[in-house]
Amino acid sequence: MDWSTNRVCRLLGIDLPLVQGGMVYMSGAKLAAAVSNAGGLGLIGSGSMRPDLFREQVRKCRDLTDRPFGVNIPLLYGHSRDVLEITLEEGIRIVVTSAGSPRRAIGPLKEAGCTVMHVVANPALARKCEDAGCDAVICEGFEAGGHNGREELTTMVLMPQCRAAVSVPVIAAGGIATGAQWLAAMALGADAVQIGSRFAISAESSGHDAYKQRVMAAGFGDTMLMMKRHVPVRMLRNRFFDEVAELEARGASGEELAELLGTGRARRGMLEGDLEDGELEIGQVSGLIDDAPPVAELVARLQREYAAARERLGAP
Ligand SMILES: Cc1cc2nc3c(=O)[nH]c(=O)nc-3n(C[C@H](O)[C@H](O)[C@H](O)COP(=O)(O)O)c2cc1C
Repeated sequence: MDWSTNRVCRLLGIDLPLVQGGMVYMSGAKLAAAVSNAGGLGLIGSGSMRPDLFREQVRKCRDLTDRPFGVNIPLLYGHSRDVLEITLEEGIRIVVTSAGSPRRAIGPLKEAGCTVMHVVANPALARKCEDAGCDAVICEGFEAGGHNGREELTTMVLMPQCRAAVSVPVIAAGGIATGAQWLAAMALGADAVQIGSRFAISAESSGHDAYKQRVMAAGFGDTMLMMKRHVPVRMLRNRFFDEVAELEARGASGEELAELLGTGRARRGMLEGDLEDGELEIGQVSGLIDDAPPVAELVARLQREYAAARERLGAP
């Protein structure tokens, strides 16, 4: 496929309309560089990194690729201000913000000449992002792994609504792990896709091997969106999941849930491989994932599947 006129490829200087979602404990320099080297956009996920580690990973990524890459900054974390500062100091030019309002962060980023994209879960927020000056929006459906919107809008429903709401490029995220799903998102009006879970289970992801194996063994319906009143997050069922479910069933307060989470559960589950007491974030597509290949192989596969699905439809 020749993507040279694709709006997202032009905006970001990449060959394929394919963005790797920033992911806590998964997307360091190794994963981001591998995706960028394969022709997509790699993102360093700053959410789980202390500022000094974040700076180190940015520098490492520069050593590993000459292609454009960016950073993901979830705005809900206390250290996001430091991360934003380092982003500017290090001369990063592509920034994806999430989990908060982009208004707070966008001024200095645009002044520094950055391309800024924000992750949204409803069309009203997509419009706000456009008004605030975002260069593109990433619309993330209910199927997605990680933190999620409360609206429960699936990518299938959210994508056309965001397309209609804004004129800037729209990147679809959530529920995309195969080339056929990628094509389906483009058919709904997406200019590109952002893929998270599928890249989390790849050779270059820094997730623990036990976590990757657990995801590969997962079947349909093994994830659910939990903590909707606190910070909604999609996760696999395990003992920690049951504890959260129990607390929620008896109407626990946000503080009680925060206390349960406060003990580094995400780190334990995804980085340290504690499959019972750790938090195992992943999307609904976990039911479609049964291997962890190197990114180059995965991206080649996605392209083959995309072309095959297109041919099957008889598209010109
Ligand atoms: C393990 C995991 C961690 C994630 N962490 C973040 C994050 O730190 N920041 C963010 O904006 N999105 C995060 N996400 C969401 C992804 O960037 C992406 O939008 C989402 O995974 C897309 O849906 P998919 O999982 O169906 O591919 C995370 C997703 C996963 C699976």
